[in-house]
Amino acid sequence: MSDTDTKEPIIGAGVPRIDGPDKLAGRANYAADNLPPNMAYGYGVFSTIAKGKVTRIKVDEAKRMPGVIDIFHHGHFPSLYRTPSSFVQGNKVEETRLPFEDERVYYEGQFVALVVADSFENARAAARHVEVEYAPESAVANLAQGLEDNGTQAGGGHARGDAASAFDSADTTIDVTYHTPVETHNPMEMHASVAYWDAQGNLTIYDASQGVVVERNALSKIFAIAPERITVHAPYIGSGFGSKLWTWPHAIATAAVSRELGRPVQLVVPRQQMFTTTGHRPETRQRMRLATDGNGKLVSLRHEAINTTSFTDQYVETCGSVTKSLYSCPDLTVSHATTQVNRGTPTSMRAPGAAPGLFALESAIDEMALAAGVDPVQFRLDNYAERDESQDLDFSSNHIVEATKQAAERFGWHERNPQIGSMREGREIVGYGMAACNWEALKRPCDARVSLRADGTAFASCATQDIGTGTYTIVAQAVSDVTGIPVDRITVKLGDSSYPDGPISGGSWATATTLPAIAGAARNALDELKRYATGSNGIFAEASADDLSVADGALRYDGKQASFAEVLDAARYGSADGEAHTEAADSKYSYRSFGAHFVEVRWDPGISHLRVSRVVSAIDVGKVINETTARNQVEGAVVMGVGMGLFEATEYDERNGRPVNNDYAEYVVPVHADQPEIDVILLDYPDLAFNEYGARGIGEIGITGLAAAIGNAVHHATGKRIRELPITLDKLMDDVPQAQSA
Ligand code: MOS
Repeated sequence: MSDTDTKEPIIGAGVPRIDGPDKLAGRANYAADNLPPNMAYGYGVFSTIAKGKVTRIKVDEAKRMPGVIDIFHHGHFPSLYRTPSSFVQGNKVEETRLPFEDERVYYEGQFVALVVADSFENARAAARHVEVEYAPESAVANLAQGLEDNGTQAGGGHARGDAASAFDSADTTIDVTYHTPVETHNPMEMHASVAYWDAQGNLTIYDASQGVVVERNALSKIFAIAPERITVHAPYIGSGFGSKLWTWPHAIATAAVSRELGRPVQLVVPRQQMFTTTGHRPETRQRMRLATDGNGKLVSLRHEAINTTSFTDQYVETCGSVTKSLYSCPDLTVSHATTQVNRGTPTSMRAPGAAPGLFALESAIDEMALAAGVDPVQFRLDNYAERDESQDLDFSSNHIVEATKQAAERFGWHERNPQIGSMREGREIVGYGMAACNWEALKRPCDARVSLRADGTAFASCATQDIGTGTYTIVAQAVSDVTGIPVDRITVKLGDSSYPDGPISGGSWATATTLPAIAGAARNALDELKRYATGSNGIFAEASADDLSVADGALRYDGKQASFAEVLDAARYGSADGEAHTEAADSKYSYRSFGAHFVEVRWDPGISHLRVSRVVSAIDVGKVINETTARNQVEGAVVMGVGMGLFEATEYDERNGRPVNNDYAEYVVPVHADQPEIDVILLDYPDLAFNEYGARGIGEIGITGLAAAIGNAVHHATGKRIRELPITLDKLMDDVPQAQSA
């Protein structure tokens, strides 16, 4: 028996992040850390009106400021081309309008000029002296006004059966409307771009990007040059949560003015403009109509969602994406629609669609269960779908019943007294609530390369990214799994568009998409190595490749063993290389991840204090590749869900459309004091119909349902059903006049 058989498998092990030491030591370079020689600095001038026209830009005074090189704006900006912004072609951008394309203003905080100077400080100082005159027009401030002024545009949906008739003839019904506010991504790392062009007209750009390949392809369309002439680098990203998935105007403008000036240019987007020009989760209004029969079975479900979008682009927040398939219901309608407002174009934010969608769905399920007189856990167990009724497909693997039961048990749900406000501890009222969570699993096409090197190390590369989630580490684990080379002798290179095409770091796709390609490339490299070993001057020249086995970074034949390094040395090759291409998942099954959150809140009515004190989450994401990073993803998502439930909302000044809480001080996210005790149960059932590792991805599911579980617990504690996020204290206090809902 070899050592390998007794060792703990590397897949599933809690391998610490291999990029951790570089980050701790400050060796990890983020976009704005790149300082090519002769670099100039850009700083934006941003619209102070939400809608209208720029009538005049006065730059003379600003141009005389120290260090100013040039000031760009509509009328003085290179002509660019549009990208088709096709998801399928992989050249998508979210804001399709080109920067400075015309004199129109569509949202407050839109770029209206770009100052370039010899230092950041000089550029910023001069930007304040650019005078912009506007012809303002009356702007659309929010969802309610959008509906009134512009109505809606259809955004797709799903229907089966006849939900309206089933509702009308049902025993018990609810008809409730939920509202979620704009949330803004607040990654630690600012959006930033550093661009330069070489003498041959090739573009290099360092960008805070969750998708270097898509950015390369989009820029190739915009600058009308071959994609091979553009290299996008994003080796490290200080997270993005979706805001860095697609290329935003600042990156395009930086590349354009760099070419114009013939020198490198850096542009860092100020935090304030990360609230305006780099996307946000849009505002939603969701009407939920549910009905049950006398046995507490769902007989009708309608989920009608409307979200705000910009005047330049239609972004659909697919709130009903989960509603279609989570519960069994013969008569069901999901519809999405948008309404235009004068805000920047929204974008994906962690679990787009599902995060606000499951706030509505899982709150409504709670309301329905109570109306039907059934315990909310039991109601779900009675109604979970056994197959995907929206696609008429079996789920590849679905353990939501086990997830719900395990989490209920661990949490102590059976100790819950269902009576409102009945569970007291000292001054506090304790509330228990729960919700299901759910996220689609996707696997996209992917290429990867692996080299086994003569020094005994391995090298793997793929043009996907590690946005802080552990992708470097799991790629090393996959190479180690196939070759037996220890993780600390494997170099992983990601975040460079010149590597083999990989997926965006989004949609929780990266793990499921990248690992099979990496494993395939590693196997192909091993095949190459075996050919070397059995070739004319090979170390096992007498053997045929099929007779060789692989273990611990060595080839074995007939009781003999030679390390990869010895094999390569004997054959006089520096490396054995393999590439692989893997395809998207087939459509034989519905591939989804499942789970359940159980939440304890504590409400102190005396001082009006609410906190989430305890969360138990059981998550079924197929095979867990790295126990440590997977747990960390769920814990992080739960904390972000606490933010969504209790704190996060971007507030706009209705006079000028400006986000007023546009900084870390006033846009409230959870801090350590807000973090509950979090207990994550990771079910570990490999989904082998999905890919060879059986892994479905884990970045997003943890935030889905969490805000609903909080709201349900708040209802249990207080009797108040808060249908508008965030659940702020004023909404729980008696006799506090409520602000008009937006
Ligand atoms: Mo995620 S919202 O796809 O970064």
